[in-house]
Amino acid sequence: MQTVSRLDMLRTAVADLRRGGARLALVPTMGALHEGHLTLVREAKKRAERVVVSIFVNPTQFGPNEDLDAYPRVLDEDQRLLRAEGVDLLWAPTVGEMYPEGFASSISVRAVAMHFCGEARPGHFDGVATVVCKLFNQVLPDFAFFGEKDWQQLAVIRQMARDLNLGAPVADAIFGVGIVREPDGLAMSSRNRYLSAQERAAAATLPRAMRQAIARIEQGEPAGPALDALKAALTGAGFHQIDYAGLADAISLKPVDALGDRPVRLLVAARIGQTRLIDNMPLATPPSRED
Ligand code: PAJ
Repeated sequence: MQTVSRLDMLRTAVADLRRGGARLALVPTMGALHEGHLTLVREAKKRAERVVVSIFVNPTQFGPNEDLDAYPRVLDEDQRLLRAEGVDLLWAPTVGEMYPEGFASSISVRAVAMHFCGEARPGHFDGVATVVCKLFNQVLPDFAFFGEKDWQQLAVIRQMARDLNLGAPVADAIFGVGIVREPDGLAMSSRNRYLSAQERAAAATLPRAMRQAIARIEQGEPAGPALDALKAALTGAGFHQIDYAGLADAISLKPVDALGDRPVRLLVAARIGQTRLIDNMPLATPPSRED
């Protein structure tokens, strides 16, 4: 596996990989890789002859009081993991290569980015959309792979690709991959490394309380009290701030307060100690009245 950190070298390496008509998949990451990221790589390998992974801790998607400086950077370990997966190329640009002096553009996706993380982290999705658009234009992959762990991010990226008529990848070639979880249900995340042993044990309350709330809502209880019980369970377990815990239309990401004909997802972001955790799960669509 070759690692490149300059754009001219990336272009040469990509041209080499494409030789003979090989198709290319891109898996964008911020590194500190875990089984969730590696699952994206494995899915990418099923679709494309060549796989490029990017590692770039993107400063523009972090708010002023967020964890940009603390974000784990473990390139050697990441390289070892990617080599073992048979990744062809690692694109690891520097901040200066990505945002040279005078950089002035930003992509802002509205609607799908309005609520939930868009509201809790102003500017976050502009940073994500802009860097992902750049990564797409730099690598020009046939396919790109993202995790459903960041459900709203996936919606934002698909919307951007559609709205801007991106050609590589086209919106339909942006694939979402299911959330990979620890045995106790906690969604894998690079940020789980921040958790103390005590916080890590308490963090498993998040998926457990989400499942309980979903069961209640699917059984016909109103969402309000079920979500209140979820928030109370999180607070009881030691989460000190709940950015949001609500239902959304799974595609438009508009908040909804009840199940209907369209797919609905429960989305939660909450803080324990210094760590902000997010998770999301689908709800079963109720049978229509005719059934
Ligand atoms: P990062 O948090 O490193 O995640 C990279 C990709 O891995 C994302 O698509 C994310 O949804 C996916 N992922 C993370 N944890 C996962 C899990 N437990 N199961 C399945 N997939 C998981 O998301 C970003 O980086 C950045 O915002 C990025 C898209 C790279 C732009 O900077």
